[in-house]
Amino acid sequence: MKKFGRILSVVLCFVMLLAFAACSKAPEKTDDTGLKTVESGKLIMATNAAFPPYEYYEGDKIVGIDAEIAQLIADKLGLTLEIADIEFDSIIPGVQQGKYDMGMAGMTVTDERKEKVSFSDSYAKGVQVVIVKTGSEIKSMDDIDGHKIGVQQGTTGDIYASDTPENGGYGEESVVRYANGALAVEGLKSGKVDCVIIDNEPAKAYVAANEGLEILEGTWVDEDYAISFAKDNTALQQAVNDALKELIADGSVQKVVDKYIKAD
Ligand code: ARG
Repeated sequence: MKKFGRILSVVLCFVMLLAFAACSKAPEKTDDTGLKTVESGKLIMATNAAFPPYEYYEGDKIVGIDAEIAQLIADKLGLTLEIADIEFDSIIPGVQQGKYDMGMAGMTVTDERKEKVSFSDSYAKGVQVVIVKTGSEIKSMDDIDGHKIGVQQGTTGDIYASDTPENGGYGEESVVRYANGALAVEGLKSGKVDCVIIDNEPAKAYVAANEGLEILEGTWVDEDYAISFAKDNTALQQAVNDALKELIADGSVQKVVDKYIKAD
């Protein structure tokens, strides 16, 4: 009986040791890179992959400028990139709640967003433009008023267009919100909206891929694209930003951009 007791206590000690080892590891969540990420060894990027040339599907793979820059960053940090395709307006809440390590989605830096997340340096510029059907009665920006405007829900195009006329918008009731840019363009083609306000490069891609659409002269607002992080994960934000800075300095970012955007 005594012997059995001794064996039992050895086994118990062992179990407790194991349990202790498991517990002491879990809350740390840092890996060999010293970075805190959602899953050890991974860099999980949230995006909305209906935004060519920044992120879109080629078969079942998400490709594009953001996907490639993120891959270069992950390589530099020794992390495995994983891309989550979600609704655009779920990206910031998801990053804030720590479901994703970063948001990268041709996302414009705005003061409101800065209150919720922190941003990297900017790696690209965007402008909002207007797509219409060829022959539309909207011939210039001045003709938009009184028409239905399609936007991607939660984007800067949505925010600016649905603002009041005093603030340069067209009012909430003029705006029809779509889950993504591709659906907004479908809405334009089928006549549910009279124009679509969206970022310049995706606009060019949609016009190239669809007959009978064109972009109006002129641009609306100039914007900076950057990567977003949870405010409390400054180590990751800094590490990614340092990697990004190097990739900008050595021309790698420009190389990716040139691969996807041909000079006109
Ligand atoms: N630049 C705009 C914004 O930040 C639109 C971005 C949409 N991006 C996307 N991947 N769908 O609001």
